[in-house]
Amino acid sequence: MRSDSTGVPKTMDITRADILNWLRETDPLKLETLWQAADETRRDHVGQAVHLRGLLEISNICVRSCAYCGIRSARTGLERYRMTAAEIVDTARRIANHNLGTVVLQAGEDPGITRQWLSTIIKRIKTETGLAITLSLGERSDTDLAAWRQAGADRYLLRFETSDRALYNRIHPPRPGQTYDRFDTLRWLAGLGYEVGTGVMVGIPGQTLASLADDIEIFRELDVDMIGLGPFLPHPDTPLGSLPPMGPEQVPNDEMMTLKMLALTRLVCPNCNIPSTTALSTLSTTSREQGLKAGANVIMPNFTPEKFRLLYEIYPSKARVDVNNEQFPELIKNRITALGRTVGQGPGRRPDQSH
Ligand code: 5AD
Repeated sequence: MRSDSTGVPKTMDITRADILNWLRETDPLKLETLWQAADETRRDHVGQAVHLRGLLEISNICVRSCAYCGIRSARTGLERYRMTAAEIVDTARRIANHNLGTVVLQAGEDPGITRQWLSTIIKRIKTETGLAITLSLGERSDTDLAAWRQAGADRYLLRFETSDRALYNRIHPPRPGQTYDRFDTLRWLAGLGYEVGTGVMVGIPGQTLASLADDIEIFRELDVDMIGLGPFLPHPDTPLGSLPPMGPEQVPNDEMMTLKMLALTRLVCPNCNIPSTTALSTLSTTSREQGLKAGANVIMPNFTPEKFRLLYEIYPSKARVDVNNEQFPELIKNRITALGRTVGQGPGRRPDQSH
């Protein structure tokens, strides 16, 4: 392991033992050296640009019942919506008019988002705006994913949520009679030529520091293009609506732990696009900037039309932070330049990728 005088590894050869030590570290002065190492790695590998991705939450209909998620199908009393094709294309145009290079179409696992319907929308967005298109639509069939790639989609986000299989199975019940392996899908997506994103939640009840270290090791091995990390935020209308008592190995769902994960992820995946996520920004007024200073290089302003935004409540407080996003992207552009960074232009691909 190479390191500078502060003892922080400068490169991706950081070991699992180092990772665990950092996850246990609480000394703010020592942690400062970790944020700095991640920030330098970010600067050297992906530069000063912060890429903005316009997020569009196209449907909150979901057939799954993930124990953590506020739009799980078992949650009754939540009004459900699916945006129309015209609404989606119009919003994509708005995103392009703000000079952003990417639209992210996100939704629950909604069977009403059919292969053909979405293919047509993807083609329209491509021809009418030229935006890069990222999909984040959960576990879909290989054929759907291939068709959407064919139609022009560029990227797909599918977090594996946690590398702890037992924990994953507890919080993520499969559809009856179906097995699905997100790692298989990530490989399938890469084979189709998508830029691929994954990620985890930090502080899931039952999640241990050792499993977070495994998550980082998996990021390193997977060699994906994008990694999204956010704190687990308990939603009162879900089975995981309250936090368990803290044990010594339980991961806290706080800003410090999320920032540590972000910084370590940057060290093992120096060329990845890593967002400072909305979930992180719910934790304090400065956490979005903290994320940008600890390795992140992407922000995803929310462009979901007002009337749907409150209904896409995967975790609480999201709407509150998103409402602040109303002034996006101008406000966020000012904040980016105030940090001495620049606003990314164009699609903002991972820099070292040729496909
Ligand atoms: N807290 C934090 N993140 C959540 N997600 C879903 N529900 C929650 C929650 N309660 C995250 C998952 C999913 C992404 C779209 O949102 O990681 O992959």
